[in-house]
Amino acid sequence: MKAKKILAGLALVGAIALTTAGCAGGGSGAGGGGNDKVITVGFAQTGSESGWRSANTESMKEAFSEANGFNLIFNAADNKPEAQIAAVRSFINQGVDAIVLAPIVTDGWDDVLKEAKDANIPVILEDRTVSASEDLYASWVGLDFKKEGETAGTWVADNFGKTPTNLVVLEGTTGSSAATDRATGFDDAIKGTDVKLLDSQTGNFTRAEGKTVMEGFLQKYGSQINLLFAHNDDMGLGALDAIKAAGLKPGTDIKIVTIDAVKDGMTALADGEFNYIVECNPLLGDKVAEVVKKVVAGESVDKSYIVEDQAFDQEQAKAALPDRKY
Ligand code: AHR
Repeated sequence: MKAKKILAGLALVGAIALTTAGCAGGGSGAGGGGNDKVITVGFAQTGSESGWRSANTESMKEAFSEANGFNLIFNAADNKPEAQIAAVRSFINQGVDAIVLAPIVTDGWDDVLKEAKDANIPVILEDRTVSASEDLYASWVGLDFKKEGETAGTWVADNFGKTPTNLVVLEGTTGSSAATDRATGFDDAIKGTDVKLLDSQTGNFTRAEGKTVMEGFLQKYGSQINLLFAHNDDMGLGALDAIKAAGLKPGTDIKIVTIDAVKDGMTALADGEFNYIVECNPLLGDKVAEVVKKVVAGESVDKSYIVEDQAFDQEQAKAALPDRKY
């Protein structure tokens, strides 16, 4: 059993090493001696669950390029928290100069973050947050998920608050700050309105699960459903297939509000199949790279940097689409 675990651990280290982009001189750049000032960064990404995630990964890879003075070791954990913890531990063992972590879930980080701290390796969070003590990480660059949920809920309250309306919700990954905080913000905003929650289940931020869960909602509640809130565009896009297959018209028979504003979501909004999208900006790479450079240089940084989001209705989506970067 123990041997199996060790083998699995070695295989993971091997897999991570294989994904090393442009290794400069085989070892930790800034900490590796000589004149090499390259900063070796281990980035523990959640996975590749959504269009948002692809845009975020691309933004990070662009910012942490060799040309910008980095040696990036990239790992995507397929949305498995234990695999992500193992990736961070592997970065510690490799002696990287800094670790960037997009935590899949909020809890469970205390031990490994303490190990990083004991090894003098700074951790910078990007995108989501953790419940661990703030002194275990240097900084966080991310989004205000609660405000995103509130913005979506306010739109619902303004448009349906005084009409009896049956709502279903497709939640993001259970235990992620993105899902928890969006739900809190949304629930607060629709409190006291005539919007009634029929059902709420996780679709894990993916198109496939969004479709499956929406199929289940439609089987159970049929045309009673008036409104869908999906915690991201991808689940909303998956739900479109289920709604059409049930003979209903998305955007008309069932109104749809989502979060992200990736190109596919904005196209559905411009086409009248979604009704409102709250943006979640995935282009965090430049800001994270700037913070990492400062932290590694021993300069002071803020504990958190929040990137602003916008929101779009159908007309605004039509206007924004031609220049949309992701
Ligand atoms: O943490 C941000 C969320 O993660 C995005 O809204 C979702 O699409 C992604 O998977």
